[in-house]
Amino acid sequence: MKPKPILIDTDTGVDDAMALVLAFNSPELSVKAITTVAGNIDVAKCTRNVERILDLLNVQDRPIVAEGARRPLRLPLLRASEVHGKDGLGDVPEYLPRSRKSKHPRAVETILRCCDLYGSRLTIVAIGPLTNLALAWKKNPRVMRKVGRIVTMGGALRVQGNTGPVAEFNYFVDPDAAHMVLNSGISVTVIPLDVTHQAVVMRKEMEYRARRRTGRVALAILKFTEAYMKYHLDTLGFNGGYLHDPMAVGVAINPGLVKTRNVHVDVESRGTYTRGMTVTDLQEHLDSSQTTVDVAVAVDRERFLKLFHDRLWK
Ligand code: BDR
Ligand code: CA
Repeated sequence: MKPKPILIDTDTGVDDAMALVLAFNSPELSVKAITTVAGNIDVAKCTRNVERILDLLNVQDRPIVAEGARRPLRLPLLRASEVHGKDGLGDVPEYLPRSRKSKHPRAVETILRCCDLYGSRLTIVAIGPLTNLALAWKKNPRVMRKVGRIVTMGGALRVQGNTGPVAEFNYFVDPDAAHMVLNSGISVTVIPLDVTHQAVVMRKEMEYRARRRTGRVALAILKFTEAYMKYHLDTLGFNGGYLHDPMAVGVAINPGLVKTRNVHVDVESRGTYTRGMTVTDLQEHLDSSQTTVDVAVAVDRERFLKLFHDRLWK
């Protein structure tokens, strides 16, 4: 089968980087473009991290790398450097290629160009705040509508948030953008914490897998994930890490990895205590004129983890 064209929109932190490795090591996908957005860290660092990962993997058929929004649509930026490190990749520069400065096209134009060029064959995998996608939608909804599907990692349906009690980070950072994309009428699959919390990779397993590889890529992965996992140990009590963003790429490779419900999902952007909360009509109270999206409610954990490890340590 011909590989699926994809565009990855990322706020390149540690799990984003693992998601990129998974995407480039997957023959089912052809990454045409990577666009960056402020989130875990400032957008310029996100762009540099994308280049570092492409250099690490020695990607020959290089996708377009475009830089996007420096801040959310309306609210000030909240970063997560305590989770991903000051540089966004665990602060282990000695194990990663040096970052170099280069010129990049703009994310919004790149997103629209890809939608126009690849049309319904294109999947956009959005693994950061949805600012770039909302801006592209605002600029040209007609062209944006050509995209086949958007897979977005974000939200928390029935579980506690990871950024305050009710919100997941990506939707907390830019709730206005999330609201806009989820109500756009484009085919969307939401990958919330409910399913990503099912997929934990333990530190011991990373060490075991890396030990069986000799290359610098495996060593770099082991090193850049170290502080991310230490953060989970210190705050949540397990020595490992969640695979939020890799799961979104996994679903782009194989949608059958998750079970979905087609319901209305919205995001609170004005609430005093509930900024970024996903409001999901799981009991279908709303009338059928409301826009619906596919939201993942269960994941085949074993199959996903197998896919993840098979491809990560290639
Ligand atoms: C999301 O927030 C970010 O910190 C991660 O990269 C992931 O996209 C998880 O809530
Ligand atoms: Ca991310």
